[in-house]
Amino acid sequence: MTVRHFRSLLDVNSQELLQIISRASELKKMLAEGATHEFLKNKSLAMIFEKSSTRTRVSFEAGMTQFGGSSIFLSPADSQLGRGEPIADTARVLSRMVDAIMVRTFSHETVESLAENSSVPVINGLTDSYHPCQLLADMQTYFESRGNIQGKRVSWIGDGNNMCNSYINAAKLLDFELCIACPPGYEPMQSLLDANKDRVHLVRDPQQAVIDSSLVTTDVWASMGQEEEQQKRIVDFADFEVSSELMSHANSDAIFLHCLPAHRGEEVSAEVIDDPNSLVWEEAENRLHAQKALLEFLLCS
Ligand code: CP
Ligand code: NVA
Repeated sequence: MTVRHFRSLLDVNSQELLQIISRASELKKMLAEGATHEFLKNKSLAMIFEKSSTRTRVSFEAGMTQFGGSSIFLSPADSQLGRGEPIADTARVLSRMVDAIMVRTFSHETVESLAENSSVPVINGLTDSYHPCQLLADMQTYFESRGNIQGKRVSWIGDGNNMCNSYINAAKLLDFELCIACPPGYEPMQSLLDANKDRVHLVRDPQQAVIDSSLVTTDVWASMGQEEEQQKRIVDFADFEVSSELMSHANSDAIFLHCLPAHRGEEVSAEVIDDPNSLVWEEAENRLHAQKALLEFLLCS
């Protein structure tokens, strides 16, 4: 049997993505009702973190525990990765001991290399290019609060970063329109724009991007690894804050999402993130349920 990986959203098809989202909501209900769901009893997940994390680490760890399994946290500082053991060798070793590997790293090539050399599923927990696990939670949050996203308009405001690239993949798989407003020089991957011309539009004016939108989303202006560009980015993104004024041009019931952590007063105002139409806490919680659905999909189907 060929092993399934989750390097980007495009490792699943539309039907599988819908299935994972709906299963995530089911697992959420089971947990709330206290139903036993030890579907990964005695299974273990290795988690390699080369960047910081709160949500991704805790949701995978808690998820594996709830499933009756366990997880192992590995950082370069206290594993041989930090002393130069090749990622391919690490993949070969880990996949003889655990049932799945999650990795958060810089270059997307690292995830590809892990997957090529692993006999167990490899999950991308964020790279400089993509953050597909976050999209599972974002889409679950939209479906639970507003129904099917097909045919809706979604607006991305700010940096064309890993999250933005993953929104483009979600637009393709779930058939929605995505309007991206970013400053010149901060565009998402050109190959993704080229491949999705029919549904992804790039504009420079955030107000134009949010018109008719059902979901407005953004992310930090400087991602992990770009800290030294923070001051320049504050200037370049000055007109890209998601404010109440900007939200007033979207649909009146538009929801606001942010993968978190957020910088109030930069990419989003305190008023918007703390508004009832901001579902960021639900979205953060859904990381747990969505990733459990993903683990079950990769390990049990
Ligand atoms: N959204 C997200 O991935 O959060 P962490 O960096 O805390 O994992
Ligand atoms: N774009 C952000 C997402 C953090 C979850 C980063 O890569 O740092």
